[in-house]
Amino acid sequence: MKGLSKVLPGIVEIMDVGPRDGLQNLTDFVPTEVKLELIKYLAKAGVKKMEVTSFVHPKAIPQMVDAAKVAAYAVENAAEWGLTPTALVPNLKGAQGAYAAGLRQVNYVISISEAHNMANINRTVEASLEELKNITNALPELRVNLSLATAFGCPFTGEVPTEDTLRVIQHGVDLGITTVTLCDTIGVANPLQTEGVIAAVQQVFPHLSIALHMHDTHGMALANTLAAMSLGITQFESAVGGLGGCPFAPGAAGNLATEDLNNMLLRMGVRTAINPVRYAEAVDFVQQNIQSSLLSHLSKARSYQEFCFFR
Ligand code: COA
Ligand code: ZN
Repeated sequence: MKGLSKVLPGIVEIMDVGPRDGLQNLTDFVPTEVKLELIKYLAKAGVKKMEVTSFVHPKAIPQMVDAAKVAAYAVENAAEWGLTPTALVPNLKGAQGAYAAGLRQVNYVISISEAHNMANINRTVEASLEELKNITNALPELRVNLSLATAFGCPFTGEVPTEDTLRVIQHGVDLGITTVTLCDTIGVANPLQTEGVIAAVQQVFPHLSIALHMHDTHGMALANTLAAMSLGITQFESAVGGLGGCPFAPGAAGNLATEDLNNMLLRMGVRTAINPVRYAEAVDFVQQNIQSSLLSHLSKARSYQEFCFFR
């Protein structure tokens, strides 16, 4: 028998990437104290996995110049909050910085598209894969998730062949990678394409753990999430307020908003760790302290409970 209720998972894990992806593209520097407060708000709302910062060159992303301090704060409070903090890293130096700050998990980013990897990381995809080997050799205790940028489209070259994604994953798997995140860096994927890419990866790598990271440029991020869940995907990355974007991905809008994703899931009876009312307080905090006009739908609703009349 077909139907959404037959394919929805019972529980979904949301990683909030707001403190990293959400903030990295903002021109005004967000004071470190505000970043720490945001992390606390998110954690108190029940966020259990969070990309708290990135260890990148401050010339590339000035906003993340305080990465060590931010990561150390998350690490310090992780046990109390039941939080697994992670950070984005582009190379060994970044991974070493993350490890030194106390993180034991990172998102190592490689773009599937050569042009985007060059613009973003200043390396060929091949060189990024070589660097992955350097990281796993140098830091064997660090859990490395492979974040595959531009897996659904490239801002410079357009279509990204799924074979390229499979080839990069194969290299990663050969180096011991067991988890990947498929990223729609520019937010152009549609649900059928999302299903196609995930199905292809699942077919070749049946034991790989797959997460999804969607931007919402074309407004299909939630629909893509549903398509992914129909294939058994239960891990998603999203950002508070729908903030987000990459200076090396021209034309991209923000991430799928965590509050919208959580709202859809909870209203369909899919459990998450995030309390929507507490999370709304984090959204308020962002509106008051970081950016007043957010892209998320729920940030425009008058109150979370207002429409809770049907469950
Ligand atoms: N963090 C801080 N500094 C770094 C670094 C890191 N992760 N990696 C390298 N550097 C420093 C080097 O120490 C060197 O410093 P020096 O000039 O004082 O000796 C300098 O940067 C150049 O090193 P190099 O290896 O040649 O780097 P690069 O200039 O080719 O830049 C990256 C490569 C990856 C560091 C840079 O492109 C980057 O930070 N990109 C991140 C982009 C991003 O975050 N995008 C959004 C998220 S997807
Ligand atoms: Zn992103």
